[in-house]
Amino acid sequence: MSRRMMIGVTGATLLIAAGLLLAQPGPGGRRRPGGPGFGPPGGRGMESKPPLAKGPAEQKILDMLNDMNRNERGGNMNVPIEDGRLLRLLAESIGAKHVVEIGTSNGYSGIWQALALKATGGKLTTFEIDEGRAAMARQNFQRAGVQDIVTLVLGDAHEKVADVVGPVDMVFIDADKEGYVDYLNKLLPKVRPGGLIVAHNITPGMADAEYVAAITTNPELETVFYSQGGGVSVTLKKRALN
Ligand SMILES: C[S@@+](CC[C@H](N)C(=O)[O-])C[C@H]1O[C@@H](n2cnc3c(N)ncnc32)[C@H](O)[C@@H]1O
Repeated sequence: MSRRMMIGVTGATLLIAAGLLLAQPGPGGRRRPGGPGFGPPGGRGMESKPPLAKGPAEQKILDMLNDMNRNERGGNMNVPIEDGRLLRLLAESIGAKHVVEIGTSNGYSGIWQALALKATGGKLTTFEIDEGRAAMARQNFQRAGVQDIVTLVLGDAHEKVADVVGPVDMVFIDADKEGYVDYLNKLLPKVRPGGLIVAHNITPGMADAEYVAAITTNPELETVFYSQGGGVSVTLKKRALN
């Protein structure tokens, strides 16, 4: 290889590596505004655009999510829009038939996932300990027209998840931070190989160190971190290789 070619190849490799680093800083990394990928505006032509409905059924749910985003965020601790979009994308792309969510709140993230499950023919089981927020969620599931594919379980998810019947395709954990390891331990055996465990608020200062260790030191699992929104870990329960 000529010297000029070698310089060119090295330069291209460095550019790709820099792009990957900007896109996916780890849990200890800093958010880099303007980095590529979906996320808040400010990128160099690569920022996400609002979701475009493929038809009226999708538009109805997106309108509902927009309305919740504008009017119901206060006190409900909802995921940012880009994390809702990520949840929908993950659930739909793995063809999820059963998603389990810990921490329903008023149903915002649940409706993002229900959007995927409407397309895959799947269902959502979601757990909430607070009666008031659970009541709001029930109303919101009804308004979004997803009540038939959502089961809301009221109570302490640490106890109630024992009743979940597998196989589960995807778990989304977004509740008491110190409880994440317990949820992982109880639900991982019910997740199918090739399924995902997604956790929210995996950021320095918020993430439980034990949970981060549990998802990054187990050879059965593969984990990546996204910090564009509220800090999300995405963990794959690996299949056996042929
Ligand atoms: C951050 S909010 C969830 C937000 C929701 N995922 C969304 O984005 O719309 C956390 C919720 O978890 C609930 N929660 C906390 N501990 C819980 C437990 N042990 N069992 C069930 N729900 C719990 C809280 O009441 C709260 O509504």
